[in-house]
Amino acid sequence: MDALKVIFLLALLAPFSYATLVVDYCVADLNHPVGPAGYPCKNPASLTADDFVFSGLRDPSNITNTLNELFNIDSSFALDVTFPALNGLGLSMGRLDFGVGGAVPIHSHRVSELILVSEGTIVAGFIDTNGTPFYKTLHKGDIMIIPPTLLHFQVNVGKIPALVFVTLNSPNPGFEITTPSLGANDLPSELVKKVTLLDAIQVKKLKKIFGGTN
Ligand SMILES: *[C@@H]1O[C@H](CO)[C@@H](O)[C@H](O)[C@H]1NC(C)=O
Repeated sequence: MDALKVIFLLALLAPFSYATLVVDYCVADLNHPVGPAGYPCKNPASLTADDFVFSGLRDPSNITNTLNELFNIDSSFALDVTFPALNGLGLSMGRLDFGVGGAVPIHSHRVSELILVSEGTIVAGFIDTNGTPFYKTLHKGDIMIIPPTLLHFQVNVGKIPALVFVTLNSPNPGFEITTPSLGANDLPSELVKKVTLLDAIQVKKLKKIFGGTN
């Protein structure tokens, strides 16, 4: 490996080593590209208490989009990009507002997730790499751990809206939501059929709903 490559790799690792070894915190400077360990730090002299507070989880986001409408769900997240003080600290947080019958569609991410039910009753579950499902009805105050990378879901099974808070052990967990991912792309439909066993009508339907082409 030549010296330039080494310097490049060290530069990418810099935010991580700062955060864990030589500084107390590394509030993200979002004007620079993110590396494997996060963003470079803002000048500490410019920080105030406000940099360490995020009020974006007070209320539902009320964002209207296809996913939220189809699944009757609203989500808000404190991630490095929305709450830059999380940069380098290995965690994030979100709130999920479920309408009656609402669901978080089956999805996965790079890291573990703790679910805390704040209002209502949900069924939460995951499927492990042996294909074994683990799912359970959770009531207010219950928590459940979802191990990293496994497919998982949540459904409001109560008669009232449900509110759930989640924490994940990365400031950027990398959400991949299975059904919309299959629909919102330009992969040829033939390929999607081949690799999913979905039929042509189903592939066309998913592409139409989620804005895919081909
Ligand atoms: C979403 O709507 C609720 C109810 O009207 C409101 O209390 C809340 O502030 C709204 N959320 C945002 C982020 O504006």
